[in-house]
Amino acid sequence: MGSSSPLAGRRVLLGVTGGIAAYKACVLTRLLTQAGAAVQVVMTPSATRFVGTDTFAALSGRPTYTEVWEEPGSVLHVRLARGADVAVVAPATANVIAKLSGGIADDLLTSTLLEATCPLVVAPAMHSGMWEHPATQANVRALEERGTVVVGPASGPLAAGDEGVGRMAEPEDILAAVEEAASRGRDLAGRRIVVTAGPTWEPIDPVRFVGNRSTGRMGFAVAREAFARGADVTLVVGPGTVQPPEGPRLVEVGTAEEMRMAVLEAADDADAVVMAAAVADFRPREAAPSKLKKEGGPPGLELVPTPDILAELGEVKGDRILVGFAAETEEVEEAGRTKLVAKRLDLLVANEVGREGTGFGSEENHAAILSKAGDDEPLREWTKAELAAAICDRLSKMLSR
Ligand code: CTP
Repeated sequence: MGSSSPLAGRRVLLGVTGGIAAYKACVLTRLLTQAGAAVQVVMTPSATRFVGTDTFAALSGRPTYTEVWEEPGSVLHVRLARGADVAVVAPATANVIAKLSGGIADDLLTSTLLEATCPLVVAPAMHSGMWEHPATQANVRALEERGTVVVGPASGPLAAGDEGVGRMAEPEDILAAVEEAASRGRDLAGRRIVVTAGPTWEPIDPVRFVGNRSTGRMGFAVAREAFARGADVTLVVGPGTVQPPEGPRLVEVGTAEEMRMAVLEAADDADAVVMAAAVADFRPREAAPSKLKKEGGPPGLELVPTPDILAELGEVKGDRILVGFAAETEEVEEAGRTKLVAKRLDLLVANEVGREGTGFGSEENHAAILSKAGDDEPLREWTKAELAAAICDRLSKMLSR
């Protein structure tokens, strides 16, 4: 370990909250210091009922803090937040996860984490019922959507002789997650990246539209990842999506034509354009100026093609990197490669749709990454966050050539 770890010389803030797995945080402290990190431990008052502050002080070689007021004359939570390159909460109780999700800062640890801007890893540990509760699941999702890395929990023996999901991940696995979060770095710093997300809505009349079920999650994952890695991100987002990530510059649009205008403007000085939006391929030729009445009978909808934004960018390609997405039901890789070539793209994420649990609205994608250079990744299961990371890895490589 030692100098080969990305944690060598880095400052790690370790938050310990009140669960029996707090004893395993002692092992984690040892692993982090062995990796060369300077570890600052902050405990919640209830964590000190499981392990004493002196144990962590001895292992980390630094005083352990628990209270906001411990260092008269300094604003302790601000100093701790600014002094961390990466933060990890292990074990993380359902309570601290809820507080982090809701932005509550009622003790030293939560105040520090609310102020901190460094990458955050949390290792949940709790009883199965608490973990599976919809409130906890929603809080975990909210944290993940903001870029927090959640490691575990695993299945196995729990406190009070119970068994199930909720056991804290092993210290070695938490170390690996902290190393990864710390080394993710800022490899896209100074790069300008345009990302599109969500559907477009093509009006039939002032209240009705032709649209699709895109939630924006895939594009948001790419925008979040690129922003976290230091890129200047413009996120062009269609209507009716889930909450977009904090950070990127947001441009809200409604129709394919509006998206086209916004993308062309933002793409002008961009290094890369990632078209994750599900742009409508067709729109009603004309939108009725007032609401269509039932008495008028079923409207005959005449559809006309929308502009293909990606193909238009492909025509004036230059050095700009273009990334497209495609949804296919069969011969996914072959159909994807045809699109990659036709639209002159550098990368195309070919999604297999029509299977249960993948595609729009789901967390998982069954997808292949096809590349102009030929270094493809075959069809497999990915979370949207993993796909986003893989796209950003490739952007980073292509842009540094
Ligand atoms: N796209 C675009 N402008 C459009 C339509 C699509 O820029 N008017 C982009 C999408 O954002 C996506 C890619 O092109 O990155 C999708 O290409 P497309 O050929 O439309 O794929 P599918 O929607 O899968 O099309 P098809 O139904 O023809 O298979």
